[in-house]
Amino acid sequence: MSHQTEVKSAGDGELLKQTIRRYDASPRAYAWRFAVADMRIEQDLFSACLPRRHQPVLDAGCGTGRDLARFRRNGVAAIGLDLSQGLLGAARRCTASPLVQGDMLRVPFRRASFRGVWCCASLLHLAPEQAALAVGEFRRVLSDEGLLFILVRAGSSHGLDSSGRWFQLYERTELEGLLKAAGFAIISLTVRPRPAPGRWLAVLAAARTHAHAEPPPRPATAISEPFPS
Ligand SMILES: C[S@@+](CC[C@H](N)C(=O)[O-])C[C@H]1O[C@@H](n2cnc3c(N)ncnc32)[C@H](O)[C@@H]1O
Repeated sequence: MSHQTEVKSAGDGELLKQTIRRYDASPRAYAWRFAVADMRIEQDLFSACLPRRHQPVLDAGCGTGRDLARFRRNGVAAIGLDLSQGLLGAARRCTASPLVQGDMLRVPFRRASFRGVWCCASLLHLAPEQAALAVGEFRRVLSDEGLLFILVRAGSSHGLDSSGRWFQLYERTELEGLLKAAGFAIISLTVRPRPAPGRWLAVLAAARTHAHAEPPPRPATAISEPFPS
C-alpha cells in the first residue's frame, strides 16, 4: 500500500492496540465505510459449504456487524467477536446476533464450539506471529471438518495507513503456509478485486481432524550438538 509507513515490528501488541483505538475513536465513520463492502457472494458460498451441525459460526473481527446481519437473514446462527468497543456498539444497532468483546489471539470459547469461522478483513491487523496464534485459535474452536474463511489484502508489505491502523499484507504462499501449519486443508484460494480497491486473497479451508494433521516440522539441529542424529 503506497500510503503506508514502514514499521519494523508489530509483534509487541502496541500497534494492534493503536489500531483498535483508531476504530474506537470513529465508529460511525468506519460503519459507513464497512457497510458498502459487498461480501454476499463469498458469504453465501461459505454458508452453503458449512458442515451441517447445530453449532454457530464465529465472526472473528466482526466490526460493525454487516456480515452478522446477513448470516442472521440467511438463518445461519453466528456470534460476533471484536476487540473494539466502539465498533461493537455500531454492530449492536445493526444485528440482534450475540456480540462478545474479545481478542482473536485468545478466543474466549471452548474447543470445538463452532462449525465455521468467518474472518473478513480482520487478520490483516495482526503481525505474522500474532496471525499464527489467531489461526491456531480458529482451529481450536472449530469442530473437525469445520469451515474457515479468511480475507486479507494481497501484497508483500506491512505498515500503518494514513489513519494509523496497522496492516499486514499477504502473498499467496504465506497465507497457505499459515493455514497448513495450523491444521487446515485449503479448499480454495482466489485473488479478487473486492471488497475495496486493490487485490485481495480469499481463502476457504477445512479444519483437518487431528489424526490427519501434518506432523510438526523437525527442529533444526543445534550447531553446538556434537553428534546430530
Ligand atoms: C477492517 S475491520 C473489518 C470488520 C468486518 N469484518 C468487515 O468486514 O466489515 C477489522 C476488524 O477487526 C477487528 N480486530 C482487529 N484485531 C482484532 C483482534 N485481535 N481481536 C478481535 N478483533 C480484532 C477490528 O476491531 C475491526 O473491527
